[in-house]
Amino acid sequence: MIFDILTLFPAMFASPFEESILGKARARGLVTVRVHNIRDHAEDRHQMADDRPFGGGEGMIMKPEPVVKALEAVRAEGPPAVAVLLSPQGELFSQSLAWEFSRLERLILICGRYEGVDERVVHFVDREVSIGDYILTGGELAAMVVVDAAARLIPGVLGNTASPEAESFREPILEYPQYTRPREFRGLRVPEVLLSGDHEAVRRWRRAEALRRTRIRRPDLFSRLKLSDEDRRLLQAAESEDDSGDQHAREVIG
Ligand code: ADE
Repeated sequence: MIFDILTLFPAMFASPFEESILGKARARGLVTVRVHNIRDHAEDRHQMADDRPFGGGEGMIMKPEPVVKALEAVRAEGPPAVAVLLSPQGELFSQSLAWEFSRLERLILICGRYEGVDERVVHFVDREVSIGDYILTGGELAAMVVVDAAARLIPGVLGNTASPEAESFREPILEYPQYTRPREFRGLRVPEVLLSGDHEAVRRWRRAEALRRTRIRRPDLFSRLKLSDEDRRLLQAAESEDDSGDQHAREVIG
């Protein structure tokens, strides 16, 4: 899959895609990331990419010409692509959107900067996406999030051990807590059941903890869960015992 990133700050993308899983995926040719400088498409002598807002107000607005010209030039350079403007006004990015993007041949990501982008740019893109209800200084970090979340879903990127496909069919529930050695760390012990070797008891404990965490931390997800009779029993038992070591849950319950 090809990711084309349009930005005023190409240097920001130097290292994030060189490390770890994405670095390997690029080396193996599974993922191509190309970064383009919007300023190269600014027409005037000073290569101005931003200007003051009509109607007055704070800050600078990204001019439409350099952005749209950069987009058109990059579009012309390769296979069909979906073009996305990263902005806090966009639809919320989600795992299902990551799946959708991961199935594309090419994704063009446009990073807005400063106080905003001239609204007419929206007419030239396919969608506008926000990574969350908070304001970043620009779309660059948002573009990195989108690349990372989509790239790991491309077949082969995670290797053979992990199966992101399984995630897509999963119910809306948080993961159960995980532990590794040592058995005791600074007085904090791994829950006894995980050391027991009793696979059925481990399964029940994990299910109960996942349910309980989801109920406390993410009531929005919990309300969408379809609980079995066993789920209800496990949840009730877990909430009366509290041997999970889940500090956060304890604080919320009080
Ligand atoms: N640019 C600034 N904030 C953003 C956000 N939350 N998502 C996407 N792009 C942004």
